[in-house]
Amino acid sequence: MGGGRRGGGGIVESPGFAPQKQRNVIKTPASLLLAALVAAFALQTWAQQPAASAPASAASAAAPGASGLTVAPPQASSAVPAPGPAAATPAPAAPNAVEATAAAAKADPAAGDTRFAAVCVACHGVGGNSGTPANPKLAQQHPDYIVKQLQEFKSGKRPNPIMQGFAAQLSDQDMKNIGAYLATQQSKPGFAKDKELVSLGEKIYRGGAQNRQLPACAGCHSPNGAGIPAQYPRLSGQHADYTASQLVAFRDGIRKNSPQMAQIAAKMNDREIRAVADYIAGLR
Ligand code: HEC
Ligand code: HEC
Repeated sequence: MGGGRRGGGGIVESPGFAPQKQRNVIKTPASLLLAALVAAFALQTWAQQPAASAPASAASAAAPGASGLTVAPPQASSAVPAPGPAAATPAPAAPNAVEATAAAAKADPAAGDTRFAAVCVACHGVGGNSGTPANPKLAQQHPDYIVKQLQEFKSGKRPNPIMQGFAAQLSDQDMKNIGAYLATQQSKPGFAKDKELVSLGEKIYRGGAQNRQLPACAGCHSPNGAGIPAQYPRLSGQHADYTASQLVAFRDGIRKNSPQMAQIAAKMNDREIRAVADYIAGLR
């Protein structure tokens, strides 16, 4: 516990236990689900087809919706609430929604790849799948969130002695490129490790604590931890040590770039933070 920022005194690394504790069975890749949602929305609005061909739920739309996106007509883009000036431009056969977002910002994922491989890979791992608990996984994170964090490391709004130096060397364009590249990478799943705490973590994640106005994490970060672009970051599979350190940093006013998260973290004690961080590590 002496480290303070780690808050992980109770987390015992026992890999043998891990696989049995995965309670989260939603295995649909976030990108596929997102693509399905966008496609379902676009098709519904555009084609005015009878309800029979319009998927009723995201879950049932997953398979057909994904292929439907590749044939989405130009008009569909004006119906989708996509940010950015390129909304009126026809997007011919966009492979998926993540790449469509990146294209709107004219980001260059290949340039991002080069930059990432030259510097960032040392700490954040190949493809952004860090193997070091203190260094966050970045793979599959939403590009806008990545850009926001890099800008705020650079400006000092999110003070961090390590990242401030690296972010200072990046232009806005570099940040966009790296964000676009990371969005194309598949996040490697993690595991919950603490048998005692994981059910408390699940309770908080899914339901919060109503008597203390602690909201459910799932409400913003989605039930499977995929987050909601562009505002709510992906959490699933993240190293528990990193997640716990961020919740403590929000709570203690060290990470000052989200009043929303500061308020939420202020309602959690160390045990709850450890529990929810452990649960998040196993989310998928
Ligand atoms: C020496 C190790 C190191 C290097 C090199 C490094 N980082 Fe980091 N990075 C970290 C650590 C540690 C954190 C967690 C900081 C904190 O606790 O707030 C972090 C955090 C981040 C975050 C925030 C992630 C989140 O989920 O909020 C982003 C984005 C990021 N780094 C991108 C980069 C990029 C891009 C590069 C290369 C230009 C890079 N990092 C190079 C160690 C490193
Ligand atoms: C009302 C919406 C909302 C709720 C509810 C919420 N969050 Fe967040 N969370 C956010 C936003 C927005 C951010 C991004 C902050 C930023 O831009 O830096 C965030 C960021 C985070 C981060 C930092 C991720 C990273 O990669 O550094 C963690 C960890 C986190 N939330 C955990 C939780 C947990 C645990 C809960 C439930 C106890 C929760 N959040 C509930 C909105 C929410």
